[in-house]
Amino acid sequence: TTGLDLFQPERVNSQGFDLRHRPTLASIDTARDAFATHQWHAAPLTIGDLPHGASDAVRNPADFADTVGQVTWATPETVTRAAQGAERWGATPAERARILNRAADLYEAHYGEFFALLHREAGKLLLDCVAELREAVDFLRYYAAHAEGAEARGTFACISPWNFPLAIFTGQIAAALAAGNAVLAKPAEQTTLIAHRAVQLLHEAGVPRAALQLLPGAGDVGGALTSCPAVDGVAFTGSTETAQIIHRAMAANLAPGAPLIAETGGLNAMIVDSTALPEQAVQAIVESAFQSAGQRCSALRCLYVQEDIADSLTEMLTGAMDALVMGDPWQITSDLGPVIDAEARAGIVAHIQQAQAEGRVLRTYPTPDTGFYVAPTLIRVQGIGDMQREIFGPVLHLATFKSHELDKVIDAINATGYGLTFGLMTRIDDRVQHVTERVHAGNIYVNRNQIGAIVGSQPFGGEGLSGTGPKAGGPLYLDRFRQHPAAQTGS
Ligand code: NAD
Ligand code: ALA
Repeated sequence: TTGLDLFQPERVNSQGFDLRHRPTLASIDTARDAFATHQWHAAPLTIGDLPHGASDAVRNPADFADTVGQVTWATPETVTRAAQGAERWGATPAERARILNRAADLYEAHYGEFFALLHREAGKLLLDCVAELREAVDFLRYYAAHAEGAEARGTFACISPWNFPLAIFTGQIAAALAAGNAVLAKPAEQTTLIAHRAVQLLHEAGVPRAALQLLPGAGDVGGALTSCPAVDGVAFTGSTETAQIIHRAMAANLAPGAPLIAETGGLNAMIVDSTALPEQAVQAIVESAFQSAGQRCSALRCLYVQEDIADSLTEMLTGAMDALVMGDPWQITSDLGPVIDAEARAGIVAHIQQAQAEGRVLRTYPTPDTGFYVAPTLIRVQGIGDMQREIFGPVLHLATFKSHELDKVIDAINATGYGLTFGLMTRIDDRVQHVTERVHAGNIYVNRNQIGAIVGSQPFGGEGLSGTGPKAGGPLYLDRFRQHPAAQTGS
């Protein structure tokens, strides 16, 4: 690819659903209600009948009383046997594209079941369910449109996180398959039921079993995959720490040159100067920090507000936070669902409690006790350097700066070593250029929120500790899943 073929008039992104339209909401209700108490069962989807491990119940993170189904896990032995049986997808690029497009249609047709699963297994709000299904479908169609190209590498391990259990899970697989590889897919252990339904639909669309196998499991199954010499490359999305472990495992066990495509965490900042429109800024801040309960790699973690407007903006911001409703993701009235599990909640709550002990919490709230809820919280910091790590939840950190300190703020943001998203709110054109040229971040957003990149028009991915590139949903992504003979001979 030349990198210039971003514009693809033959492909249109999914239209999703207009949630302001009452008849649409009524249809969604009917489609989801059929799965309100459904029990799913996920197990390894492999060629032949391979050995597997124990089973566990899956519970709804928003409602401790709701059991969603059961997962039967793969084991490291399942991984070895599945890898031995994996076969590149031999179909022509046009046939692969046809089947991936067919899978996209099947995903759309099963929206009621996917929304119910996303609510009940991942704790996602309806707004996020709609966006997630759209993104998954867009990935399938976007990579299908790029299926033509150099030869496949072989077998790819695709390892994904729970926070986009359908979109990221599907995006990695669709890219590897579009390029003609075999895939061994390991979803996050928290969201296996969603992944299992997705793979069933991909098989139903026509992807051969030997080209796509599902291996449910935790870090041990992921570790077995990234140490398996039959694996020719790894696509990983998750934390920076796990990416570093995978990098070491691959270096020790896989053939030299096996690619690692890693999309990892961030310490994302936004700068709001005194010329920004306050109402626009507050809306962008609330969406960036608290939508999806802050469980997006792109989410805003550290907000820098120019001192002159800090008091008034903070008052507006806390007013907007007061209006957020925490509660059942199934209800359209909820603004914030739960975090994914007990461990996630404990880590975030410990961070808030430490800030409380230090007198730095500007706003927090009581939480429902029916699920793993964490309150939207605002914490004062001196700067982004005070933050030791990514806090993956609805916690926003607030720092102020004087007008002459702008470059110091940019240096502090760059010094974190992460570089995923960045937001800027200003009405000064020269400042947009000055700041965006200096900040190291993969995706920079000006005068809007900094979440929700759109496949095809906003390729997504970070630099530094945030990822290896190339960007997902962009024209260069598929190249890493293919053979490049010239590069391999060193010429
Ligand atoms: P995680 O790193 O804990 O887990 C991700 C996946 O890696 C899971 O499937 C997990 O089972 C697997 N895994 C764990 N240990 C492993 C090992 N030793 N070897 C191989 N695989 C292993 O991350 P998470 O908690 O699921 O997701 C949240 C993180 O993901 C956050 O840091 C977030 O910023 C990041 N994320 C990044 C992007 C992006 O596009 N950059 C997108 C979404 C999430
Ligand atoms: N692609 C997701 C977003 O932009 C992570 O929010």
